[in-house]
Amino acid sequence: MQNFELYNPTNLVFGKGQIAKLKELVPQNAKVLLAYGGGSIFKNGIYDQVIKALTGFEIVEFGGIEPNPRYETLMKAVTVIKEKKLDFILAVGGGSVIDGVKFIAAAVHFDGNPMEILHKRMQIKANAMPFGTVLTLPATGSEMNSGAVVTINETQEKLSFGGSALFPKFSICDPTVIASLPKKQIQNGVIDAFTHVLEQYLTFKQDAYLQDRIAEGILHTLIEVGPKVVDNPTDYALASNYMWSCTMALNGLIQKGVSTDWATHMIGHELTALYEIDHARTLAIIAPNLYKVMFATKKEKLAQFGERIFGLQGDTETVAKQAIEKMTDFFHTMGMQTKLSENTANYQDTANFIVKRFDERGWKGLGEKQNITLEKVREIVELSY
Ligand code: NZQ
Ligand code: ZN
Repeated sequence: MQNFELYNPTNLVFGKGQIAKLKELVPQNAKVLLAYGGGSIFKNGIYDQVIKALTGFEIVEFGGIEPNPRYETLMKAVTVIKEKKLDFILAVGGGSVIDGVKFIAAAVHFDGNPMEILHKRMQIKANAMPFGTVLTLPATGSEMNSGAVVTINETQEKLSFGGSALFPKFSICDPTVIASLPKKQIQNGVIDAFTHVLEQYLTFKQDAYLQDRIAEGILHTLIEVGPKVVDNPTDYALASNYMWSCTMALNGLIQKGVSTDWATHMIGHELTALYEIDHARTLAIIAPNLYKVMFATKKEKLAQFGERIFGLQGDTETVAKQAIEKMTDFFHTMGMQTKLSENTANYQDTANFIVKRFDERGWKGLGEKQNITLEKVREIVELSY
């Protein structure tokens, strides 16, 4: 196991009725920017719960943060904060609103052009505005991590950044919020979280037995509850286990002491930037093909995944290959279409585009062994057509 530091200061407040605790969690006398997305919170009662809990606080609302949040929109919120002299941000939404708020929090006090935060993929370690979140869509883990992804509309670039100053001060996770989610979004959430675990787990054997067992526990739980929660989102046992699994998949715990991959996400982000395919759906397109192309590097861990998650038996090569098939079957069970051509019509030049972009960015060796070269990226994307 590699040396590591574990730092996670987010106060996670989990369970039914916890939104009412906002009045204790938001700092007294705070002037709050209440940030949200396209308006789902008005239809499902979450807005009303938040406003009730924040009675007495000075609040300025900022709505309209898009799925795959846009730099251009977020900069408008930065202006509002400066004009109204606000000092705390509350994100109410899914990963997009929370990621958007992380950018706003970093940009408000940024010395220079905030676009640099994205282009230089900066790590913000100080001077971020404090913020909390009310999670409305379990998926990304953004509620308990310090990373975020923001899209620049003008250049169609989807870029990640982060840093220790960008952990939420608190996050409220009330599993009853998922009752209003469209099925498609629950499917996305399960697959996003599943793939987060894969990116940290499907590498090579690294003598991190506990990390492996925790990762496998999350995968098992997502397989158990995922298909059921789509049809029964008001079942509290299913909803709470789904929500907690998503947080645990990307709150930093299972990546400690191990080398991780993330190439599926890096390629997937390009598919969203190019074709606006939902984040999770891009992962379902890329992941199985990445595991096929990188088979030689990953087969031992793929075989462990096949044995422990799907109960497969046999020699390493066979079990590893079958494990990729089982993974793809699970993606299909969760409503994913795993070919790029099933998700967009104009895919023919995608591999060239992505390889060129990665080349320009100097991303010539991705993955846990930096052996996912530009040629491998091309192969993975072409295999995904
Ligand atoms: O905008 P509103 O009206 O709120 O509607 C949203 C949006 O249309 C809707 N929704 C959310 N909660 C709802 C609801 N509808 C009904 N009832 C509710 N309770 O769902 C739609 C999608 O929301 P979005 O926030 O975009 O989804 P998700 O949480 O999947 O976030 C995706 C974004 O997070 C990034 C992705 O790249 C993408 O931009 N990621 C962030 C990560 C991180 N910070 O660690 C890691 C991930 O890998 C990912 O990259
Ligand atoms: Zn993801």
